Amino acid sequence: GGLDAKMKAKGKRYFGTATDPGTFGNSQVASIIRAEFGSVTPENSMKWDATESSRGSFNFGNADALVNFATTNGKLIRGHTLVWHSQLPGWVSNINSASELTTVIQNHVATVAGRFKGKIDHWDVVNEVFEENGTFRNSVFYRLLGEQFIDIAFKAAKAADPNAKLYINDYNLDYAGSKINAMISLIGRLKSRGVPIDGVGTQAHLIAGNSINSVPAQIRALAATGLDVALTEIDIRIRKPVTSALLTQQATDYATIIKACVDTPKCVGATVWGVSDRNSWVDSTFPEFDAPLLFDDNYAKKAAYTSASNAMN
Ligand code: G3I
Repeated sequence: GGLDAKMKAKGKRYFGTATDPGTFGNSQVASIIRAEFGSVTPENSMKWDATESSRGSFNFGNADALVNFATTNGKLIRGHTLVWHSQLPGWVSNINSASELTTVIQNHVATVAGRFKGKIDHWDVVNEVFEENGTFRNSVFYRLLGEQFIDIAFKAAKAADPNAKLYINDYNLDYAGSKINAMISLIGRLKSRGVPIDGVGTQAHLIAGNSINSVPAQIRALAATGLDVALTEIDIRIRKPVTSALLTQQATDYATIIKACVDTPKCVGATVWGVSDRNSWVDSTFPEFDAPLLFDDNYAKKAAYTSASNAMN
């Protein structure tokens, strides 16, 4: 129903949200997800620090609960994320041998993706590999393995869950420049090496009234790689104080980005990064911003909800 039904009527796979037991455990959040969204992304529960905080010792408590919630309610799942420099336990960051790190990546991916084999629609296999200037981020993965860490991760994911669509995901792909250019070049190299990649995720953590108009052309540029494209973590935060004019601007901006996906054949779906403004990561990370989502602190639909919905008419 809701937003998801409208997105599907446009030929897309889903309109999704991010959640985890800590948020869908609230009955109002759960009922909004049931009514409005067709896909869920685990906000934190499938990350490395949540699943393998010490080597070889796996914990799937929250991840299993998320998967049970999704399958019970008939929702698709975007797995997030297998190889990422952040929320990475120290024991991984401290590895200093390339062959050991290769084995560790392969075992982590095989175990996490293997546990949910057949249940995951998309996997964000690698996340945020680039700096803003288009160079590779100086993570333990890149330092020891170079670009090959990406090939290793995708091949392991393909072996573990052959039917999941495998994605590379990043942020600040919303405007022209070095970062999106680097992403597009990398995708070309991965394809030429035969790496099993299906899609590119553009997170779309945006600011109301701030260069949203450049986003549609970047979605088309990503689509021109030939991969599927997904908007994976949309939120549009408002600089405080939140005014009705800024809420209206935010509504306009949501329409722009949702319509851009609707109008791009290769764009398969859109996910907002949470349900209610009450639970957004923005509150703690950007205290000078607020109110980035479609439902307010009291779980009521905002102007942005109506506008996003109308963009799918
Ligand atoms: O679970 C612990 C809890 O035990 C502890 O008491 C508490 C104290 O700080 O922290 C809790 O962990 C927090 C975790 O969220 C779960 O709530 C972490 O500190 C906090 O850093 C973590 O933030 C998440 C962030 O990723 C970490 O980088 C956000 O919820 C999550 O929304 C955010 O999501 C990322 C995507 O994965 C990738 N793209 C960017 C996006 C926004 O940063």
